[in-house]
Amino acid sequence: MTARIAVVGTGYVGLTTGACLSHLGHDVVCLDVDAEKVEKLRSGHVPILEEGLDRLVEEGLHTSKLAFTTDVAAAVRGSEFVFLCLPTPQADDGSADLSFVEKACGQISDHLDAGAVVINKSTVPVGTTQLVADALGRPDVEVVSNPEFLRQGTAVHDFLNPDRIVIGARDRSVALRVASLYLELGAPWVVTDPPSAELIKYVANSFLATKLSFVNSVAAVSEAVGADVEDVIRGVGHDRRIGHAFLQPGPGWGGSCLPKDTSALAHIADSAGYEFGLLRSAMQVNDAQFGRIVGKAEDLVGDLNGKRVAVWGLTFKANTDDLRDSPALRIIDRLLARGAEVRAFDPGIGPDRSVAEGIEVVDDMFAATRGAEVLMVLTEWGEFRRADIEQLKESLASPNVVDARNLLDHTAMERNGFSVRAVGRS
Ligand SMILES: NC(=O)c1ccc[n+]([C@@H]2O[C@H](COP(=O)([O-])OP(=O)(O)OC[C@H]3O[C@@H](n4cnc5c(N)ncnc54)[C@H](O)[C@@H]3O)[C@@H](O)[C@H]2O)c1
Repeated sequence: MTARIAVVGTGYVGLTTGACLSHLGHDVVCLDVDAEKVEKLRSGHVPILEEGLDRLVEEGLHTSKLAFTTDVAAAVRGSEFVFLCLPTPQADDGSADLSFVEKACGQISDHLDAGAVVINKSTVPVGTTQLVADALGRPDVEVVSNPEFLRQGTAVHDFLNPDRIVIGARDRSVALRVASLYLELGAPWVVTDPPSAELIKYVANSFLATKLSFVNSVAAVSEAVGADVEDVIRGVGHDRRIGHAFLQPGPGWGGSCLPKDTSALAHIADSAGYEFGLLRSAMQVNDAQFGRIVGKAEDLVGDLNGKRVAVWGLTFKANTDDLRDSPALRIIDRLLARGAEVRAFDPGIGPDRSVAEGIEVVDDMFAATRGAEVLMVLTEWGEFRRADIEQLKESLASPNVVDARNLLDHTAMERNGFSVRAVGRS
């Protein structure tokens, strides 16, 4: 089946959704309010770093199955399916801010065809399917929840190889119409009511965040008792009830989704009269983890005031250029507050990109380390693992390393005279 689809919002989720659906044979028009971004996309320039996305955009433009516009009517009229892929940032009280979703509903409402299906792919609180229906004010249009589970860095792969497709609809036949868009992917469908679909996304991200905080706590215990957390998690992860995924200790979790989604679920629970203490603890552990990583640098060099600190990795994870809520930035904030001078390198971030006040960003990993008292590895880019240890030692003023991702070969480094502080290893 080939459908005419509009995608509202061409960020990480919307652009991946649009490009992948056109790759699956659908006719897709992507709409965005950002005219500069739309102009770039029209000429085949993908403004985000996402493996394989540029090829799909090029393919879609070439086959004319994919188009980009800022014209709401041109995108929405004649579309059987309209995906909402809009930001849902964290509001001041921890809840999800739905203003982008509500605004877009107002913009598209008059242009929707009768019988169209509006599909919400943004991560939204329980009740938003109804809120969207109310904001559209179009009883002749169905609204469905279809949360997205892609991971940045592997977004195209994840979209085309999902673990499951979740669809929440009041009417099962409408859910099946939406499911048919993904038929070719052969993934299991979970068809449910809208509130359950909305909750599934928050529960998934909150569970992952809790798992990470749990393993970071295990890392702290491992350090205290002289165990090696990497061996501990290997021993635990082989248990099929537990598994290896998301059991990697690190600098704390971040990114555009986990912090806001855990906070939103805690807020949903509060509003429903349940104090989700476990989730609140996971958030507190995470906040403390940023401080623990800074403490490791202090262990090595003492007071950080006036000290030069090199940072490898700014993005919230490797293989993305996304800095939103990155743990690296949370840690750098603390370094700067202690008077450190920070020079950073990240393979996904050019020196002309404005990152945050007080951070000097350079375009070479050894330019970052030159003359520094300590190197902090904060993102797990592969090139850091392959860095030449001799060259690193020569460039640093003192051979001190905090490896917050347990990425480097610590034995080789210590043999070469480095002092190394890792996570979960004494
Ligand atoms: N990034 C992820 O890994 C990920 C994964 C799963 C789900 N999500 C969820 O998907 C949603 C979108 O996330 P994202 O990372 O793609 O956001 P994003 O900020 O990268 O993209 C949002 C896009 O929407 C556009 N936009 C804003 N208002 C608009 C309007 N009225 N009309 C048209 N376009 C408009 C913006 O210009 C931007 O291009 C969020 O709810 C997020 O939680 C994100």
